[in-house]
Amino acid sequence: MADTIDILLLGSGGREHALLRKLKESPHPGRFWVAPGNGGMLAEAEAAPIDQDSPEEVAAFAREHGIGLVVIGPEAPLVAGVADAVRAAGIACFGPSGEAAQMEGSKQFAKQVMARAGVPTAAWQSFTDRAACEAYVREVGGPVVVKADGLAAGKGVIVAQTTEEALAGVAECFDGHFGAAGATVVVEEMLDGPECSLLALTDGTTLVPLATSQDHKRAYDGDRGPNTGGMGAYSPVPAVTPEQFAAMVDAEQRVIDQLRADGITYSGCLYGGFMLTAEGPKVLEFNARFGDPETQVVLPRFRGDLLEAFLACDTGTLSADQVAWDDDWAITVVLASAGYPGSYEKGKLISGIDEAEKLEGVTVYQAGTKLGEDGRTYTSGGRVLDVTAVAPTLQEARDQAYRACDLIDFEGKQLRHDIAHRAL
Ligand code: AMP
Ligand code: GLY
Repeated sequence: MADTIDILLLGSGGREHALLRKLKESPHPGRFWVAPGNGGMLAEAEAAPIDQDSPEEVAAFAREHGIGLVVIGPEAPLVAGVADAVRAAGIACFGPSGEAAQMEGSKQFAKQVMARAGVPTAAWQSFTDRAACEAYVREVGGPVVVKADGLAAGKGVIVAQTTEEALAGVAECFDGHFGAAGATVVVEEMLDGPECSLLALTDGTTLVPLATSQDHKRAYDGDRGPNTGGMGAYSPVPAVTPEQFAAMVDAEQRVIDQLRADGITYSGCLYGGFMLTAEGPKVLEFNARFGDPETQVVLPRFRGDLLEAFLACDTGTLSADQVAWDDDWAITVVLASAGYPGSYEKGKLISGIDEAEKLEGVTVYQAGTKLGEDGRTYTSGGRVLDVTAVAPTLQEARDQAYRACDLIDFEGKQLRHDIAHRAL
């Protein structure tokens, strides 16, 4: 490997801030560019003035600046084919091709791959015809889950207890509430059990699982309120048995192998969202990227050279010995703007980040933040900060994270107080 490698990282969430921090621990990073970044990332890296979703702009910037590795955080640039353009320019890229990213970009595509690969998932049907979809929902009845086929920023899933709720969900999809994502609708069986996320690195052949984690998707304490992008997470998930872990790894390996047999190399991070049902783990969804906020609890426990592992994913040389874990527990608590996941105000002054980070084991990853001209940090998004703590026990990590949350303030600060309650 070259002595130093200049990196361009796409994205602006807490996930990307966590990726930046871990990549910087590598012995090899050179100049570090981000697009668009956030308040925290831009204090630690340079801004690349490009549109992260434009394959041409990203590839041109990478070529002109001698970038050695482009790391793609979010799904939109992946589905737009940014990785294809970067690789076509002869530059290493972490993230799957546009075709491979259909594992996240189209629920129907993912379901078809799973069916061919023999991966356990909820029974499903997909529809482009509204009347046929409504007739099917009436036939199977609630409880049932209705999903817009395409990317809908985590919002296109309606978990319906009754047939009426399901029909309302179908109407939302076909009435265009999720834009083009809802033109095809997937209706699936409702599964029951605890959820577990398993992120894995892969070069298209070898798949190396990362540590398990659990997200908290609902907005309010007690898993009430609307679904969000995620309000907190912890790692590892103690409820997962070795058999369940092996079954989740097997599901992900099968997907990679199936895609390869179909002529598609999937390299990057494969994120499986699983329900641990009485019949074993079943897939809820696949994502083509790291999870947010799962990354913020998985990467702090990662021991190894993440930059080297990312390059190995691109070159087809990934091996299990590139990944190791420390035994600590990690938890992250999201501090959100009042009103999230609905509408919220921006531009609120944030205080206490530095004080919080002085606590042992605490890191504050920034998400929806902006550096003001006065050098201070302001809110600029729904999920603002990911207050993360690592400690020898989950209880200590949790206490420390909430202590840190108390030190941070901004007008309208909203958080869940029960992150990791299921594991304690
Ligand atoms: P997804 O974006 O597909 O992971 O769905 C978002 C959330 O909806 C998941 O984390 C689950 O809590 C829930 N969900 C999705 N599919 C199902 C299902 N088949 N059965 C029960 N809950 C589901
Ligand atoms: N934490 C959910 C996601 O990243 O999609």
